[in-house]
Amino acid sequence: MGKIIAIANQKGGVGKTTTAINLAASLAVLERKVLLVDFDPQANSTSGLGISPETSPNIYECIAGDTPLEEAIRPTNTPNLDIIPSHIDLVGAEIELVSRLRREFVLRDLLQGLEEAYDFILIDCSPSLGLLTINALTAAEKVIIPIQCEIFALEGLGKLKSTIQLVTDQLNPQLHIDGILISMYDRRLRLGKMIVQQIKSSVPDFVYETIIHRNSKITEAPSVGQPVIMYDAGCKGSDNFMKLAAEFLDRNKEEEAHLVP
Ligand SMILES: Nc1ncnc2c1ncn2[C@@H]1O[C@H](COP(=O)(O)OP(=O)(O)OP(=O)(O)O)[C@@H](O)[C@H]1O
Ligand SMILES: [Mg+2]
Repeated sequence: MGKIIAIANQKGGVGKTTTAINLAASLAVLERKVLLVDFDPQANSTSGLGISPETSPNIYECIAGDTPLEEAIRPTNTPNLDIIPSHIDLVGAEIELVSRLRREFVLRDLLQGLEEAYDFILIDCSPSLGLLTINALTAAEKVIIPIQCEIFALEGLGKLKSTIQLVTDQLNPQLHIDGILISMYDRRLRLGKMIVQQIKSSVPDFVYETIIHRNSKITEAPSVGQPVIMYDAGCKGSDNFMKLAAEFLDRNKEEEAHLVP
């Protein structure tokens, strides 16, 4: 049905969390029921939505088997948007999972049964290709890959794509890339346009039409625990993410037709 979406890139600081929070919130504003699973021990999505990263229950306790997933779901200040918070303890899961039966399927098994309750479930991944990210890719049907609009943007993309291929071949045949998202575009930089061209010609089929520009409101919003659309609905950042949500829905309209109302 295409409703579980991992936001992944093993490169750090490319805009994964920003995309997870703001795409989720924009879809929620468009009246989709959305769950954001913070699956990064840094817990940036958690704090970015105004929830303490010390919160319990959290995704780590669910992965450890101490808490049913439903109990970890928290509403946010954005209507239609719920979150499962993360916790720094999730670092330990990377090692603890190694000896588990069906270690790649732990998140997928947990999310089963929740799918009916949401139109979309977004998973914010950590900057690694370890077992946590493999779990997210095994649970998901689609991946969104944010890349920073900079000179070495495409570095590491090959490794990510081959990991996705490996997961598709061995663990989750449904998985595919929904799109590559160019983020933090700075129109004042002359190089910017050239980099966009370079990215589009390297991976033509995948790149979203929508480009997320650098915008100070996007940086400020998490400090008050809000998605940018709730912080300043009129700013360029909000406009970018509403356009992305519309483009995402357009790419997924066939699947959406099959979703429960
Ligand atoms: N479009 C944007 N405009 C301005 N600042 C941005 C934008 N996108 C991201 N940032 C800022 O860049 C930093 C990195 O972004 P973000 O946390 O989303 O990346 P990430 O890929 O999740 O990082 P990590 O790999 O550490 O999880 C953050 O401080 C964020 O506020
Ligand atoms: Mg992040």
